[in-house]
Amino acid sequence: MVRKNQLPQFPSDYLNEKAEEYDSSKWMERNQKRSTLLSIQYLYDEKLVDQDEGDIKNSSNLLILDLGCGTGFSSEILIESGFKVIGVDILPDMIVKAKEKKDILKSPKIFELILADINYLPVRLNSIDHIISISAYNFIIHGKENYGKQVKQLTETAENLNNILKKNGRIIIEFYPKDDGELKIFKNSFINNGFDGFMVKNKPKQKSGQTFLLLKKRI
Ligand SMILES: C[S@@+](CC[C@H](N)C(=O)[O-])C[C@H]1O[C@@H](n2cnc3c(N)ncnc32)[C@H](O)[C@@H]1O
Repeated sequence: MVRKNQLPQFPSDYLNEKAEEYDSSKWMERNQKRSTLLSIQYLYDEKLVDQDEGDIKNSSNLLILDLGCGTGFSSEILIESGFKVIGVDILPDMIVKAKEKKDILKSPKIFELILADINYLPVRLNSIDHIISISAYNFIIHGKENYGKQVKQLTETAENLNNILKKNGRIIIEFYPKDDGELKIFKNSFINNGFDGFMVKNKPKQKSGQTFLLLKKRI
């Protein structure tokens, strides 16, 4: 069972009965939902808004990609906030649980699920309004110990995300970088590949704590 103040291990903490434990943990549900609500606020952060954008707060009909959707806690909040959601996760054990949430929705068409790797998304170019990722983006460099390989992967993924986003598309990533170096390569992968943005930390002195990246596709 993943506990407070302990970073989960991928994939072992999300397989078989661990997926079940994850989904039935009230603490985890609260935590994921709180971070998602905060991310929705960050999506509309005034520092990301251009003057010519009009009313960006009307979320009905906006299509949002939930990267690393897990069992769907974040997706649930996004749907309740009026977005249409595509959840993406690489592990069948997690996505099966998200499917249970989809099945009890009154309008299942507003929630699609894809079993896929964030690094290789089967999504059309220019088709997504915004992207969020809560407690999952850390894992995209899993298994790549070498710094060069990590940077290459992060770069390719940031480029792909840029390509699938529509004009003015934003990305909010909540993640837990393990140190200052990791924080830098994640942030730079976006800034060097077509995004403007900045980071927000609730505890700024803590290099490895909860971090939000607020990003907007550069025109
Ligand atoms: C903390 S959990 C899910 C959090 C999610 N926000 C929620 O509400 O449940 C992190 C998820 O990231 C997924 N993940 C890790 N690496 C991934 C990758 N490369 N592509 C897609 N999903 C990935 C894991 O399978 C896991 O379900």
